[in-house]
Amino acid sequence: MTAAKPLYVTQPELPPLEEFMPYLEQIWSSRVLTNGGPFHQQLEAALCEHLGVKHISLFANATIALVTALQSLRITGEVITTPYSFVATAHSLLWNGIKPVFADVDPDTLNLDPRRIEAAITPQTTAIMPVHCYGRPCDVQAIQRIADDYNLKVIYDAAHAFGVQRQGESLLAHGDLSVLSFHATKVFNTFEGGAIVSPDARTKQHIDHLKNFGFVNETTVVATGINGKMSEFNAALGLLQLKHVGAAIERRRVIDHRYRELLRGVPGLRMLERAPDATANHGYFPVLVGPTFAMSRDELYQHLRDHGVVARRYFYPLISDFPMYRGLPSANPANLPAAREAASQVLCLPIFPAMQDEDVQRVADLVRAAGTPQQRRAARPTVVAP
Ligand SMILES: Cc1ncc(COP(=O)(O)O)c(C=O)c1O
Repeated sequence: MTAAKPLYVTQPELPPLEEFMPYLEQIWSSRVLTNGGPFHQQLEAALCEHLGVKHISLFANATIALVTALQSLRITGEVITTPYSFVATAHSLLWNGIKPVFADVDPDTLNLDPRRIEAAITPQTTAIMPVHCYGRPCDVQAIQRIADDYNLKVIYDAAHAFGVQRQGESLLAHGDLSVLSFHATKVFNTFEGGAIVSPDARTKQHIDHLKNFGFVNETTVVATGINGKMSEFNAALGLLQLKHVGAAIERRRVIDHRYRELLRGVPGLRMLERAPDATANHGYFPVLVGPTFAMSRDELYQHLRDHGVVARRYFYPLISDFPMYRGLPSANPANLPAAREAASQVLCLPIFPAMQDEDVQRVADLVRAAGTPQQRRAARPTVVAP
């Protein structure tokens, strides 16, 4: 019954190897491996063009980019953020000695709820770090209004938001800075990698100094920078991946559409609505397993695993439940009911460009069948009446 090869939540996207060889040959002959070499420069320019943004700084990964983004704006004190994210979002604050203040999410979008942001502001608040969760845009206008009213900076963790357009322009243009991830599991990957989108050349230049130890020239160091540089290998791969990413997102769109058709009407199963005024990159396919579904979320997770389908509970546990955060007053479960409910219900189903139609059908059939009451009895054979 179990498939020979498990179907994972994602499979990293790679171009044909032979297409990468000329790039490698160029690196081998130039011996320029890093430090802002030609591929690095070309990828920054190509990404600006592709994403429709003016200034971008490549990084070794998004976590270092988040840490650097906070440094570049000299953020201190308290920052309001979401507990419903990958742990790197809040870790970037602790690495800067900043106190995270968790605010609840909107249950419809699973993004920070602007009303909850406003309620969490104190005299120590200096910034907001929202996440465009699953690439679905935050309420950027409401967030900007709050930031303007209270003189706060906004750094978007846009790790999931590659290529997303809102009202015809890049989502990454919002806020003071946006941070992308090019990790292997992301819609656009450079094996490991990330980037900061800046609004102007001066900010980009400062960020470029910070990611290179603070050097501005051979002998001058102007800041306590870090080594956040992307290598030529990763940048070359990025240039090649960029040629294929449009087709990859289109294939994801087809899979997303198919899942929605196949899973429509399953009792107790909720799919997130698409944002009405934005494009999607279909990096994730989350479903929420509600109390009227015939199995609990964890039972469904296990049931799928037993049948060779490795779905993931992104994002469970909440960041606010990890040991370094749970003592914070804002981590109190009573403060975060919508995030808690989402974390207890969410399951991200497999979605990746190489996924076959029959695999989409198989996953959907498994979920649909698991949602019938007969399945509930079958899934719990160990409960025996005394
Ligand atoms: C929301 C979010 N922020 C940050 C990161 C960290 O990105 P990276 O792995 O590139 O450091 C990830 C995932 O990897 C993420 O999902």
